[in-house]
Amino acid sequence: MKLKPAAHIRGEVTVPGDKSISHRGIMLGSIASGKTEIQNFLEGADCLSTISCFRRMGIEIENKGGTVTVQGRGLHGLSAPDGILDCGNSGTTTRLISGILAPQPFSVTLTGDASIQKRPMKRIIDPLSQMGADIKSLHGNGCAPLEIHGRPLHGIHYNSPVASAQVKSAVLLAGLYAEGPTMVTEPQKSRDHTERMLKFFGADIRSEGNTVTVTPGGGLAGGGLTGGRILVPGDISSAVYFLAAALILPNSEVLIKNVGINPTRAGLLKVCQDMGADVTLLNRSEDSAEPTADLLVRSSSLKGTVIEGPVIPAMIDELPTVAMMACFAEGTTVIRDAAELKVKESNRIAIMVENLSAMGADIEETGDGMIIRGGRPLHGAVVDSRKDHRIAMTFAAAALAAEGETEIKDADCVDISYPEFYRELERLTKE
Ligand code: S3P
Repeated sequence: MKLKPAAHIRGEVTVPGDKSISHRGIMLGSIASGKTEIQNFLEGADCLSTISCFRRMGIEIENKGGTVTVQGRGLHGLSAPDGILDCGNSGTTTRLISGILAPQPFSVTLTGDASIQKRPMKRIIDPLSQMGADIKSLHGNGCAPLEIHGRPLHGIHYNSPVASAQVKSAVLLAGLYAEGPTMVTEPQKSRDHTERMLKFFGADIRSEGNTVTVTPGGGLAGGGLTGGRILVPGDISSAVYFLAAALILPNSEVLIKNVGINPTRAGLLKVCQDMGADVTLLNRSEDSAEPTADLLVRSSSLKGTVIEGPVIPAMIDELPTVAMMACFAEGTTVIRDAAELKVKESNRIAIMVENLSAMGADIEETGDGMIIRGGRPLHGAVVDSRKDHRIAMTFAAAALAAEGETEIKDADCVDISYPEFYRELERLTKE
């Protein structure tokens, strides 16, 4: 795809539903009793992979234009699929579903696309095995395909070496089926959508600092979860591309409606403040246990900052875009403690450095992040998305503010999380 620079970006946009919450709605809805209705569900390829996996385990799921109805069959209502489960490109599907499958009374093999087959699964195999699970990497490389033979599990206290919501969620979901309580302690707090939704569905789950405890046998139905209505907020990880474009282009103003601002996801807003970005939160609200606001974003003179420590997990998926924004800031931006970026859909540190350098940026790769010296104008270039949706969207926003044309390779990978992205971006640059 080829993109030309834009004079400005203006108008109102409603971004699609949050990816993490959409996945969890299907998973928890499937193992809850009764009906779960998910409004503003994200119809991106990743969440469709989750739907397909649960349909194959006997769950009736209806998708009518963004409203998804799941006929939950309770904790013990899944049936064995008739073949391998395909998680596509989705790390969330692969890791969370493993936590649900480990205690089932059947065996399953899970796999996904070429990217998924390179992503680390040892991080869930280890704690689930400690709980008594029989789960192994078929090629012995710690990656999918995974073979899971369901077994009875027991609760553990897991001290996770990484702040990862996928690891935490896999252990907590397995904990719903285990004997005794299950605890997970993280080095820093990762996104807490699983905890919020489990509580909303009646589970006995408590958080204290960076430790979460789930006790099985809780729940309004006396031993399980009860489905309900979930209104999925807009995904801040999809909003960031419009936010960044509005900040770096002159004469720009964008209103991004109904964005999820859960504190464990909203590190971006803090960093925007540190960079001197003009971002105002309007219409704050809360539905289905998740806070939201409209984000009003105006062109800004950005300044460099240091991004490190506990804010990193709260903006992990937005960091590539912030690294791009930092090229337009005055001074140096340092991103550290972000080695997790290397094990996402692509190595997001290496690919950001490669692509931004191709566009003329002064950027350096470090062991756990990047150093960006801002204030050098970017020029168009051919950039490779590596089929990573967040990289493609970041460079579409960068292209608007670069001089000359930018070509993004494998640009259609945005279908993973935001199929309408390019149309929306184009509409806003024409307003
Ligand atoms: C996610 C957690 C994060 C994030 C991913 C979605 C989730 O991954 O990067 O896009 O839905 O739990 P990690 O848990 O690996 O940090």
